[in-house]
Amino acid sequence: MAPTMAKPKVFVTREIPEAGLSIVRDFCDADIWPGELPPPREYVLEHVKGVDGILSLLTTPMDPTVMDAAGAGLKVISNYAVGFDNINIPEATKRGIPVGHTPGVLTETTADFAFALLISAARRVVEGHNYTLAGKWKTWGPSLLLGQDVYGATLGLVGFGRIGKSMAKRATGFDMKILYHDDYVPADDPFAVDIGAQSVDLDTLLRESDFVSVHTPLLPETHHLIDAAALAKMKSTAILINSARGPLIDPDALYDALKNGGIAYAGLDVTEPEPIPMDSPLLTLNNIIIAPHIASGSVVTRDQMAVIAANNLIAGLTGKRLPNCANPQVYG
Ligand code: GLV
Ligand code: GLV
Repeated sequence: MAPTMAKPKVFVTREIPEAGLSIVRDFCDADIWPGELPPPREYVLEHVKGVDGILSLLTTPMDPTVMDAAGAGLKVISNYAVGFDNINIPEATKRGIPVGHTPGVLTETTADFAFALLISAARRVVEGHNYTLAGKWKTWGPSLLLGQDVYGATLGLVGFGRIGKSMAKRATGFDMKILYHDDYVPADDPFAVDIGAQSVDLDTLLRESDFVSVHTPLLPETHHLIDAAALAKMKSTAILINSARGPLIDPDALYDALKNGGIAYAGLDVTEPEPIPMDSPLLTLNNIIIAPHIASGSVVTRDQMAVIAANNLIAGLTGKRLPNCANPQVYG
């Protein structure tokens, strides 16, 4: 008689959609934090003890302390996100732990939302809604809530990876001029050439764009990439969009620029910190839209992300190469 194998033990830091969670439950002995808010640090450190794998959300740091608490049996960390700045990648790699993430499936969904922020900011959609709710709509007004044209304007994409490129695709439908800055995408990139997007240095992008949208990962070298100096280079009519990571923009410098006419408007899906504190001065401005980090949040996409996260987890538990690995260098 074959010995019954114990199921691998995993800790799941929050409930993810059932499409993925059911896969995890079937294959693993899963300890799932049931709360709506992220688990407290002490709870994480206690519950990772002796696990074979962790399925994490971007709201829970995966640092050396967590990895050490899990112990030498930890075979995989699977992040339910495309970004993985919550995970200390060098430390995971040093310990031989592959880290999974969920690229690809959320690209178009996230670009949809970033473009929604762009248009909403340009055409003051949220201000219009609030105006209606406040009972201020008395008549059609020739100069009521005038905004800026998206059609024909110049879009500057800081970061021209998957999501940046998907923004560019959308922008072609609006006959926008497209500039991009990305150290890893050459000027003769076939996609860029095909859609007529032009590679420029960051200063040129900031100076010439009517819309600046950031699409870079958060790394030490991109922290506060958009700071006071960068904002000062932008047009006073410029609109800044961030659907990537909050700390790419210096929030104090952004407040000053929006307050004092340095730039015209901002549309953010991410902030520093998250959630944005209710006493943040940014919340006192009219020329800003702030969404609660929902850009990848379509029903279909979140299900697909859950399945990918589950499959990355199980691959790691069974010693297979992760289908979507954030630190392929772990494989030598
Ligand atoms: C969401 O922000 C993600 O990185 O997937
Ligand atoms: C994320 O998928 C990106 O590469 O922009």
